[in-house]
Amino acid sequence: MKDINLKNIMPATEYEAYTSKYLKPWDAMILKRCAEENNQKSAQGTLLDVGTGTGVLLEELHKIQGFENYRLIGIDYYQDNVIEATAKFKERSLDNYITVVQGDAHALDFSDDTFDMVISRATIHHLVDPVKALQEKYRVLKPNGVCLIHDMRRDVPIEILEKFNALRAKANYPPTKVHEKYTVSEMRAFLDQAGLSDCSYVYAEDNGMAALGYEVKIWKN
Ligand SMILES: C[S@@+](CC[C@H](N)C(=O)[O-])C[C@H]1O[C@@H](n2cnc3c(N)ncnc32)[C@H](O)[C@@H]1O
Repeated sequence: MKDINLKNIMPATEYEAYTSKYLKPWDAMILKRCAEENNQKSAQGTLLDVGTGTGVLLEELHKIQGFENYRLIGIDYYQDNVIEATAKFKERSLDNYITVVQGDAHALDFSDDTFDMVISRATIHHLVDPVKALQEKYRVLKPNGVCLIHDMRRDVPIEILEKFNALRAKANYPPTKVHEKYTVSEMRAFLDQAGLSDCSYVYAEDNGMAALGYEVKIWKN
């Protein structure tokens, strides 16, 4: 398994408290986009969340119309997150819908063409080989499947960065390490290197909370 950058990862219980209480506006953005891109509607689709943490987004997705019958799978490299998420979903009787397992974004342990949707939030900047991770996400998408990646960008407008750091401060979190993140043009270059430039875009807003990061969308025809 490849070496990964875990220097900036919090213990699972702290991360759970942080994300579930203070990151709602940030969560709302990717959840809204998932609902818009869901082409399975009432069907029983399958969705993979790469670098799921404690599965906070998966639990929120399960509540959204169109995802109630989805099989939601999260993978995370960090065993504490997997243990915390597994216990939580069992206790909340959500384990029939949501499963979190240990795995590496660089070598997804799933067959080609498995998922209707793949998502990943705030994870790609932790990976040693983002190009390989993009190729892996594409590989496991079914034809007509869609992958959405949201992450913070290094070229974030300063006033938006300050607002985000104020949210983190409320959770006693230090300012985010913005120098570790990628710019919009770096992400475009990774998609080119991955051979995915014809079936992807990178988009970032200029203003508001959405300007904090970018969206990568990858689709498989
Ligand atoms: C900042 S957290 C984001 C968690 C979650 N996606 C969210 O948005 O709340 C980054 C996550 O990526 C995971 N991670 C780091 N390297 C990974 C790898 N190679 N494969 C899978 N997960 C990884 C970490 O353990 C951590 O849970």
